[in-house]
Amino acid sequence: MSVLIKGGRIVTAAEDVVGDVYVEGERITLIGESLDVAADHVIDATGKLVLPGCVDPHTHLDMPFGGTVTIDDFTSGQTAAAFGGTTCHVDFCIQGKGQSFAEALETWHAKREGKAIIDSGFHIAVTDLTEGGSLEELATLPDQGVTSYKLFMAYKGALMVDDETLFRTMEVAAETGALVMVHAENGDAIAVLVEQALAAGNSAPHHHALTRPPELEGEATNRAIQLARVAGCPLYVVHVSCKDAVDPIAAAREKGWQVWGETCTQYFFVDYTFLERPGFEGAKYVYTPPPRPKEHQEVLWNAVRTDVLSAITTDHCAFLWQGQKTLGQDDFSKIPNGAPGLEDRLRMIHHFGVGQGRISLSRMVELLATNPAKLFGLYPRKGTIAVGADADVVVFDPDKRTTISAASQHSKSDYTLYEGVEVVGDVETVLIRGTVVVDGGELKVEPGFGRHIARARFGEQLRPAVPAA
Ligand code: URP
Ligand code: ZN
Ligand code: ZN
Repeated sequence: MSVLIKGGRIVTAAEDVVGDVYVEGERITLIGESLDVAADHVIDATGKLVLPGCVDPHTHLDMPFGGTVTIDDFTSGQTAAAFGGTTCHVDFCIQGKGQSFAEALETWHAKREGKAIIDSGFHIAVTDLTEGGSLEELATLPDQGVTSYKLFMAYKGALMVDDETLFRTMEVAAETGALVMVHAENGDAIAVLVEQALAAGNSAPHHHALTRPPELEGEATNRAIQLARVAGCPLYVVHVSCKDAVDPIAAAREKGWQVWGETCTQYFFVDYTFLERPGFEGAKYVYTPPPRPKEHQEVLWNAVRTDVLSAITTDHCAFLWQGQKTLGQDDFSKIPNGAPGLEDRLRMIHHFGVGQGRISLSRMVELLATNPAKLFGLYPRKGTIAVGADADVVVFDPDKRTTISAASQHSKSDYTLYEGVEVVGDVETVLIRGTVVVDGGELKVEPGFGRHIARARFGEQLRPAVPAA
C-alpha cells in the first residue's frame, strides 16, 4: 500500500516547506516537490499543514489512583489521542507495593493487549525497592525497551518514595542509560498541610492548591536536580507548573547539566481561581501540581519558547466529575487527582501558542513531537517527517474553527478543562505507520491496531525495525 500526501506545508522541528510526502508500507520513503509517483491513495493537503504525529510521554490510562481507576482505558484514551493528532504515547506502568517490575509490566501489557489504537511504550514507576522489585531487576528493564524510571516525590502513603529510593534508582539509571523522571513536590510537607487544613474544617476543592504551594514544587525540583547531579544520571522533571520549579531547571540547564523539563497544556490556561468555582465544579481542576495563580502562565510560555522547558505533554489522567471526583465531595484530599487532555493538546497549543504569536510552528512541532521522541528513545522513528521514519503524519487544517466540548470528545470523561473554548485549526487526517487512522471525523481502525514500542536508551536512536521496501 502506498500513500501520497500532496502539496501540504510540511512542518518539522527544523523545516517548513511545501511539498509531497510519499509513504510505502509503514514508512516514509520520499519527500520532495511535485513528486511524480503513482500511489494507491492520494491525500490532497493543499492549504493544510503536514505535521509529524504528536508524541505524548505523559499519560495515565486504566490506572488505579485515588481510590478509583482512571476512566479512559487504552481504547478510549488512545482514540481521544488519535483524534487530537497524537500517534504515540508513553504510559506509566505503576509498580504495585510488593510487586516485582516483571509483574507490573505484565499487568500493564494486559491492559493494552487487543485494545490499542495508537502506538505506545511504557515507563516504569518505581514505588517499592524493599519488598517488590530489586535494583538488579530495575537494571534489566532498558533491555526490554523500558528506558525511563519514574519516581513520585509526593502522594505520601501511596506512590511516594523516599530520597534513598530516589537516589538509588538514579544510580541505577546512571549505569543503565535510563532517563529518570520525577514528580517533584515535597510530599512530607504537603501531608502536614493537608492534615492541618482538614483539622481546621477546610474541605473545599481550592484547598488542594493551598496545601501544595509552589515553593514545595520548587524545593523538590531543586532536590531532584542536585541528587541527579551526584548520581550522574539524566533527569526529566514532569508537569512543571510554576516559576519556583522553572528557575532551578533554568539554572541547571544554564550550567549544561543533563536536566530537562516539561509542562502540560492545562498549566497555560487553567489558573487557581478555577478551583474556587461554586457547586463543586472546582473539583474538575483538581490535578497535581495544582493550577497556579495566573502570573505563572507567562513564565511557562517563556520557558517553552526559550527551551528551559523542552516538551508540552498532557498528563492525561481522566476521571468522571459525577461519580469519581465526587469521592471528595466532603474532603478535597479524597478528590482523585487528574484531568483529561489527550485530545486537546495540539489544537490548544496551535491556537494559543502559534496563533497568538508565542511560538513558531516548528517550535510547536519540537515541543509536541520531536523533543518527546528524542528524550524517550523514539526518534527518528517517531517525532519527525523524514525518509525512513514511521509514516505517522497529521494533516491539520490551520483555518478550521472548532469549539472544544465534552459532548464531542472521545475521552470517556464527562467534562473537558476547555469547555466552550473556540480554536482555529483542527486535525483532519491522521496516519500511523502509513494507515489512515482518523479521517473526516471517523476512526478507521479497530482496537488492536496500535503497537507496543520498545524504546531506545536515553541519547540513543530508535532505528526502524523493517528495512525500506
Ligand atoms: O493529578 C495528576 N497529575 N494525576 C496524575 C498523577 C500524576 O501526578 O501525574
Ligand atoms: Zn505527577
Ligand atoms: Zn502524571
